[in-house]
Amino acid sequence: MYDHSILITENPTKKPKPSHENLVFGRTFTDHMFMMDYTEGIGWHDPRIVPYQPISLEPSSMAFHYGQTVFEGLKAYRNEEGRVLLFRPEQNMRRMNLSNERLCIPAIDEEFALFALKKLVDLEKEWIPTAEGTSLYIRPFIIATEPFLGVSPSKRYQFIIILSPVGAYYKEGINPVKIAVEEEFVRSVKGGTGTAKTGGNYSASLKAQEVATKKGCAQVLWLDGLEKKYIEEVGSMNVFFKINGEIITPALNGSILAGVTRSSIIDLLKNWGIPVTEKKISIAEIREAHAMGLLEEAFGTGTAAVISPIGSFHWQEHDMIINNGETGILSSRLFETLTGIQTGKLEDPFGWVNEVNVLQRS
Ligand code: COI
Repeated sequence: MYDHSILITENPTKKPKPSHENLVFGRTFTDHMFMMDYTEGIGWHDPRIVPYQPISLEPSSMAFHYGQTVFEGLKAYRNEEGRVLLFRPEQNMRRMNLSNERLCIPAIDEEFALFALKKLVDLEKEWIPTAEGTSLYIRPFIIATEPFLGVSPSKRYQFIIILSPVGAYYKEGINPVKIAVEEEFVRSVKGGTGTAKTGGNYSASLKAQEVATKKGCAQVLWLDGLEKKYIEEVGSMNVFFKINGEIITPALNGSILAGVTRSSIIDLLKNWGIPVTEKKISIAEIREAHAMGLLEEAFGTGTAAVISPIGSFHWQEHDMIINNGETGILSSRLFETLTGIQTGKLEDPFGWVNEVNVLQRS
């Protein structure tokens, strides 16, 4: 058993905080970060909060060579009364351990990791922006640090949490984005690492993203890896469609990431009495619904993107324009409700909001 007390080394030099109005996603980092090491035979040890700084690793560290890494993403909000709120953070810790399991990384103590995360966010609470559409993005991640070139699970790791005040993920803000349906590359297959939040899934997506950007699209819509027929997810989001009044999202099938926002949206829709179906759905069905005028809305869900309305899909050289390229009524309602709950402006009937309250752990 390791010591749970977290040593704090205060940063003597505090950086100026960026203006809340001009924040972009993921470019600015706060004054401190959390770190903890893992050594085989000892376990996770030396939890500490230190000044945000470069980390020193051997060039032979295994993360650089074979991509044994996992990460998470969640957000903190500060409301008018100064309360600091997290959204379902225990879900992120749970999923991090599922990713760890897939990547042969030793499990973290989820309760302790959340305690450490809260302690860091509490220390950095002045960094939480309060302007509309902004938040403090929290990025916990684990990297394999053993200096070794053999392909095997590392015997050493670092678990780090960094914080970044952010604005909207897309340059479009909350306006609808154009999405390219990917026809050549695939993201994952059942049995692969698609359900894990690991760096390799994202580096494998860059080529398709590059091609999509040239077509003027913000991201790609991935199809299944075997037949390239069935819809999986968008680059950094899960995807939902409103077809003739019914909400449909691809069922989790072993290659799709189980998004925390995805599951929250499903719960919200059910709570509103709006039919929502998780099922296998093909891009051909989407085109047919579009041709019949039944594709009413489409939107992506994710921590970084929150709810991102989709204005069009580009597939086989054609554009399927959705809702005249404008944000749909349901997408807006979901966005307003979800962000309202997350920021504490609306009541939280689901018990999702978790207040940062750094009472000492017993
Ligand atoms: C998130 O939504 O938090 C993600 O992890 C997506 C990321 C690749 C920006």
